[in-house]
Amino acid sequence: MKKYDISIIKGDGIGPEIVDEAIKVLDAVSYSCGFSLEYKEYLMGGIAIDVTGTPLPKETVEGVLNSDACLFGAIGGEKWDTLPRDLRPETGLLNFREAMGVYANLRPAIIYDELVNASTLKPEVIEGVDIMVVRELIGGIYFGKPRENDGFKAFNTMVYTKPEIERIGKQAFELAMKRDKRICSVDKANVLEVSQLWRDTMEEIAKGYPEVELSHMYVDNAAMQLVRNPKQFDVIVTGNIFGDILSDTASMVVGSIGLLPSASTGDKTAIYEPIHGSAPDIAGQGIANPIATIESAAMMLRYSLGQSEAADKIDAAIKKALKDGYRTKDLAAYDAKEVVSTSEMGDIIANNISKL
Ligand code: NAD
Ligand code: IPM
Ligand code: MN
Repeated sequence: MKKYDISIIKGDGIGPEIVDEAIKVLDAVSYSCGFSLEYKEYLMGGIAIDVTGTPLPKETVEGVLNSDACLFGAIGGEKWDTLPRDLRPETGLLNFREAMGVYANLRPAIIYDELVNASTLKPEVIEGVDIMVVRELIGGIYFGKPRENDGFKAFNTMVYTKPEIERIGKQAFELAMKRDKRICSVDKANVLEVSQLWRDTMEEIAKGYPEVELSHMYVDNAAMQLVRNPKQFDVIVTGNIFGDILSDTASMVVGSIGLLPSASTGDKTAIYEPIHGSAPDIAGQGIANPIATIESAAMMLRYSLGQSEAADKIDAAIKKALKDGYRTKDLAAYDAKEVVSTSEMGDIIANNISKL
């Protein structure tokens, strides 16, 4: 039987709650498809600070590097917000992404037909939405130097080199070739030098992909257009901070931030993580939506383990749960038949796997 080593990072807040449900579903699908997953758990974020004194212990980096793929929940919380920046959970996550070299963060926003009436937007606006946000993940203003805050003056540096733009751009064009062959590159080239280089480089890459239609949009307009008419987008490629913001917006287009998974890929071990955070406001209540994490696990099966049949089964099991009217609280406002807890949703999806 084929066996894979999976590193697990649950993190803080709702992290452990949602990762446990994804593991439940992974166990069901690996059993049903005849392969086995061996999990090893590692610490990162606030919990790692509490237990080891650092947000990213060495063993975590080494363990994940030695695994076939990593499933990650979320980190952060008020308890650690006043620590010096290099000791904060978020810094641990950024250093982790950098250590794994995961420059491409793929954040699909696809509407489930079953949820067209569950969004805060009108059904006719969102029906059929299928967007792939390709976010550069280990560069830009998040990592640029110099950076400083001396109490009077504070600054960060938004920097991209041409090779950094080329590698994320090529990823986006390759993805577009497998989709509707349309890319919208989002920047702020009317104001920022770094965006001008981004735009010029995207134009250069486009010459190698004559079948792909490349357009450009300023980020402020893109934020508006995503809500006005999301169906105009196929692939969106953008830098680190713009991608962070636009993907949260895209999540509400399809109904809830609790639905959006992601794959962070690069040269080493890929990380699969929901786009949302540790949601301290609902942690411990058993109401978080686990679907973003369960879908992240499906992306892991598809992209890192080559188990696309198993990934398809997870997709189908989620769809069935939604079709049967089960909703976590975030999606309960409009057409839920039954509002269920985090773990009930995990049970329902895992049980559906055996019925497929
Ligand atoms: P958040 O994404 O944690 O929460 C924003 C809102 O969405 C909250 O109201 C929350 O309850 C809701 N929400 C998020 N996930 C949900 C889910 N699965 N089901 C239902 N509702 C959900 O963002 P925030 O509140 O700005 O940040 C909270 C903490 O998380 C901060 O410490 C932040 O730094 C951290 N954070 C971590 C990650 C990560 O680990 N990748 C991502 C974003 C934020
Ligand atoms: C995300 C988060 C992180 C980011 C934070 C917690 C560092 O918002 O994964 O989207 O900005 O990348
Ligand atoms: Mn974010």
